[in-house]
Amino acid sequence: MQNGIRQEAGSYGKYLSGTVQGMPYSGIRKFFDLIAQTEGIISLGIGEPDYATPGVIKDACVEALNNNFTKYTSNCGMPELRSAIAVYLHDRLDLHYQESDILITVGVSEAVDLAFRAIINPGDEILIGEPCYVSYEPCVTLAGGKPVLVTTKAEDEFRLRKKHLITRITERTKAILLSYPNNPTGAIMRRADLEEIAQVAEAYDLLVISDEAYAELTYDTEHVSIANIPGMKDRTIILNGFSKMFAMTGWRLGFAAGPEELIDAMLKIHQYTMLCAPSISQQAVLHGLTNGYGFIREMVGDYNRRRRLLVDGLREIGLPCFEPQGAFYAFPSIKHTGMSSAEFSERLLFEDKVAVVPGDAFGESGEGFIRCCYATSRDRLEEALERIDTFVRRYKLPKAATINI
Ligand SMILES: Cc1ncc(COP(=O)(O)O)c(C=O)c1O
Repeated sequence: MQNGIRQEAGSYGKYLSGTVQGMPYSGIRKFFDLIAQTEGIISLGIGEPDYATPGVIKDACVEALNNNFTKYTSNCGMPELRSAIAVYLHDRLDLHYQESDILITVGVSEAVDLAFRAIINPGDEILIGEPCYVSYEPCVTLAGGKPVLVTTKAEDEFRLRKKHLITRITERTKAILLSYPNNPTGAIMRRADLEEIAQVAEAYDLLVISDEAYAELTYDTEHVSIANIPGMKDRTIILNGFSKMFAMTGWRLGFAAGPEELIDAMLKIHQYTMLCAPSISQQAVLHGLTNGYGFIREMVGDYNRRRRLLVDGLREIGLPCFEPQGAFYAFPSIKHTGMSSAEFSERLLFEDKVAVVPGDAFGESGEGFIRCCYATSRDRLEEALERIDTFVRRYKLPKAATINI
């Protein structure tokens, strides 16, 4: 007993928010708990660059620390960094924003949360392409909204299509969440695909929240932001950050760019809940944006070679694999094995010690697929492919009819 509350499971139920109690843990988290208990694993599980943050960025951080740059910054972030991000968006993505249109956040994660909380009234609906990154659905729910999931399909190269979107629109629909390059599928949206989405947004007067966390990681073609489609800049909030761009996942730095009034609404929440993003990370990224592009080029070239190795290897093993063109994931189908995604992933983990993430961790429509991250060394990828091959042979799984989907 402590303060009269019994210390046993469930004792705090009556104190907890019903919304939080009704919320499942992330399927990825559950899987990582399993991985942590197993030795000798090759992990294609975690979605994180295996690179170290570039030296220029680390040096800038050390200098900032030595200069005691350890205080709060302005709520919206350092003005120099907001300006540097405006220059970055202009130079790399042909987007035109002012410093006042940009808010520095604690990773893209905070920006996702802020965007939903800034626009959602109770019951408002947000359209979300699925399979998708795990945060969107819970963040919409926590903001009091209703996530409306729109399935994307392998035969459509996992692009969000107008014909599927419009069937889910109601008078409560407020925004479309767009997430390309996509986690977990590796899909991208080309200009023509984005024009279709823009038509829907304009016809139904919707906002678009565009998570472009992997904008720098595309292979055969450059990333196009939906804010680049005529008429869309005024309806779009772009979310982006430095976790993937500069291999800075632990530094927690991202940003939102969009119409000043929307960014200002996000700032209202941010100023009360975060105060500001980490000052030393801001100072470090400022240097990255002026000196770090060479690193991005090198890293993307390397990911591209690993992508080829993994995707070709999976196809040779007999797992049909959609051609991923962005981020650092392959999303092969395991449907022909007769196993569920969870069963396949668990057996592969326990029997042959390769960690992948079951596709249903990214929503129901991910069932029948597994997510394999190729942000790991060539040697480990080769070893993982050998082990997956052994696993597939052991079960004498029928070779899939097609290698491409
Ligand atoms: C699509 C997508 N958005 C956002 C995030 C979170 O990024 P950050 O580390 O900037 O919070 C991730 C992380 O994997 C992601 O895959």
